[in-house]
Amino acid sequence: MDKIKIKTLYSSLNVSISLLSLHHSSSVHGLIHPNYLHSNSTSHTWSFSAIAELIDNAYDPDVTAKQFWIDKTMIKGQDCLTFTDNGAGMDYDKMYKMLSFGFNDKQTVNGHVPVGIYGNGFKSGSMRLGKDAIVFSKNEDSMCVGLLSQTYLEQIKAEHIIVPITMFHAASLQDILRYSLFQTVDQLLCELKAINSPSSTNSTGTRIIIWNLRNSSEQLEFDFSSDRYDIRIPADVYESSKKQYKKPEHVMQSGPETDYSLRAYCSVLYLKPRMHIIIRGQKVKTELISKSLAYIFKDKYRPKIPNIVSFYQIVKRVNEYPVNNC
Ligand SMILES: Nc1ncnc2c1ncn2[C@@H]1O[C@H](COP(=O)(O)OP(=O)(O)OP(=O)(O)O)[C@@H](O)[C@H]1O
Ligand SMILES: [Mg+2]
Repeated sequence: MDKIKIKTLYSSLNVSISLLSLHHSSSVHGLIHPNYLHSNSTSHTWSFSAIAELIDNAYDPDVTAKQFWIDKTMIKGQDCLTFTDNGAGMDYDKMYKMLSFGFNDKQTVNGHVPVGIYGNGFKSGSMRLGKDAIVFSKNEDSMCVGLLSQTYLEQIKAEHIIVPITMFHAASLQDILRYSLFQTVDQLLCELKAINSPSSTNSTGTRIIIWNLRNSSEQLEFDFSSDRYDIRIPADVYESSKKQYKKPEHVMQSGPETDYSLRAYCSVLYLKPRMHIIIRGQKVKTELISKSLAYIFKDKYRPKIPNIVSFYQIVKRVNEYPVNNC
């Protein structure tokens, strides 16, 4: 087996915050406490909108994945959700921006308008689904792994958010191996290998694994067993969240199944579907919602973009590890 060298780059979300807005640009400095990861996730009162953040990122024109796989798996006895795409993938700098707040440089490409605007969706969505997420990504030239983990930050008693990112041609490791579900470099490399789907010749893409999934009344908030090709919100969780939160209007309009079945939700997610979504091995059949309606009213939503805050990560440490290739 080939030996490769691994150098660790640790990034910290705390050190400098630059404040960007459409009208002016200035910078301030400050720290982000790890508790912010949870607070930020509470913007998702419904778990499917959190999943949509991850789907949107693969759909957007900077990534343009052709396929997006959603699966449930067990790693070390823990229920995990996995999200894998065969889009453009990320290098270290892109992953650094992904795990930071407020970076967004998405552009419209050939009429494909990006869904992402704020530079926040991955953080809010992933941390709504579970306490911990690991991101594996490959682009044409490099492979990297990043850990956004509330458990890790608690265990190291972090006062601010720190995100270890590993680059495989020359990168990091210790904390990722110690605090993620993967204890060896071989295991990490196997997850990177999983980005190459058998049905795809494209070897770039991103794989996100989320664990410590959220519970509702001592049970997982997702039902993985009543339909082996779907991920559902159990009736009692659904009912109690309906009472707790006013559901968004568009969800009510598209029919109740979309409220509790991820497969039904994904089938109507895009007005212009450009990407196949595969849930637990079975392709989602897209429904053009506009064709199923008797009367169509078009409303244009223009978000007012507040001052976008970008948080830089600065701390870096370098280690070298000889490892076996997977
Ligand atoms: N699956 C992916 N593949 C490649 N790059 C990704 C992927 N997911 C996220 N990114 C990168 O990470 C950045 C941050 O994603 P995030 O969802 O947090 O914000 P956004 O999509 O820019 O805006 P919004 O908050 O409106 O979703 C994206 O701008 C994109 O560059
Ligand atoms: Mg996004």
